[in-house]
Amino acid sequence: MPAIQEIRAQEILDSRGQPTVMAGLTLDNGLCAQAMVPSGASTGENEALELRDGGQRYLGKGVLQAVKNIHEVIAPKLKGLNPLNQVAIDQLLCDLDGTATKSRLGANAILAVSMAVARAGAAVAGLPLYRYLGGTGAATLPMPMLNIINGGAHAGNNLDIQEFMIMPVGGASFAEALRMAAEVFQTLKKVLSAKKLSTGVGDEGGFAPDLTSHDAALDLMVAAIEQAGYKPGKDVVISLDPAASEFFDKASGEYVFKKGDGSRRNAGAMTDYYRDLAARYPIVSIEDGLAEGDWDGWVHLTKELGSKLQLVGDDIFVTNVQYLQKGIQLGAANAILIKLNQIGTVTETLETINLALRHGYRAVISHRSGETEDTFIADLAVAMNTGQIKTGSASRSERIAKYNRLLMIEAELGPAARFREDRFWQR
Ligand code: PGA
Ligand code: ZN
Repeated sequence: MPAIQEIRAQEILDSRGQPTVMAGLTLDNGLCAQAMVPSGASTGENEALELRDGGQRYLGKGVLQAVKNIHEVIAPKLKGLNPLNQVAIDQLLCDLDGTATKSRLGANAILAVSMAVARAGAAVAGLPLYRYLGGTGAATLPMPMLNIINGGAHAGNNLDIQEFMIMPVGGASFAEALRMAAEVFQTLKKVLSAKKLSTGVGDEGGFAPDLTSHDAALDLMVAAIEQAGYKPGKDVVISLDPAASEFFDKASGEYVFKKGDGSRRNAGAMTDYYRDLAARYPIVSIEDGLAEGDWDGWVHLTKELGSKLQLVGDDIFVTNVQYLQKGIQLGAANAILIKLNQIGTVTETLETINLALRHGYRAVISHRSGETEDTFIADLAVAMNTGQIKTGSASRSERIAKYNRLLMIEAELGPAARFREDRFWQR
């Protein structure tokens, strides 16, 4: 049986030019594998800890300690282990850390190794990563959510809603859907230019113009969809990620559009706000419509809008079975956003996805706003047949890398590829 011979980690840069961790693994049979971890900006407070050095280097964001932890603590313990034993290795990584939030070794250190182990396992098995992780039944290409207008913590404009996304649901294949989305994105650029609005992009590759309101952003999207030759609501639908934890005022318990008009709403009024938006625009999914910790608000939101809309929990669940379990019990949200680095190992990520699917929650595999060229999440989406991915706009190579990987997987699967099976947006 092959065994891990060496682990070499390194500090590299993410798409924002901030340090992040990569780990490379060599097996005693000569096979190599590597992985890079992403990093968020609007992070949930219960996410696993991203270890940063502090001090002057990289304005405190260096990850040399995380790299050192891989070399000095993790590598000696993993040497000689069989990379096919992902579950046991991930358990060992958690035990070595010993904290609930992976704060000793750093979730960035642990995840880089965990992902590299998965890739090494796939190499040993002689399988593509999606097939190794998901088995013979791994064949569903995800419907992409493309974040074509960026706001919130991802852009310097005046939009409080962080992500305005399109879902090209009229596409019969992933490739066709992606083409439609790219056409809408290019058309949106023309629409913005014609209005003398900025066509510079935000962290996730969407445009980041200053606009007078969220309605204005949605109007631009609808115009771009139509001018690209598609029917809003039929060919292309809209999904939002307000990332409401970012504009929740804990002291007053109100949501404040602080980048925009300064208006304030409690959870009930926010629910009404979304109901109104969804009545006027072809919105099918809202992620983090309310803040982490606002469980009562989430339950109300889900009761009110859950039969019509996909309500995705990101900050509130942080890819953690413990919080998802609570959400399932209370009836908060009906879907979960999945980010490997919120929890820190591949095994725990798979457990969270499985828990969600078992309880009828849909799972949306996600990138972070700080990304790398690593395409692990593309394979993960196909492996788990989750049917949805959000990995940025149709620009910036760290986003496109994932879409390109999905194009290749679809081509590789050929007639076995499945797409658009769960059409929740048609409800
Ligand atoms: P983040 O944003 O990666 O900056 O946390 C993504 C999201 O909120 O979904
Ligand atoms: Zn989010």
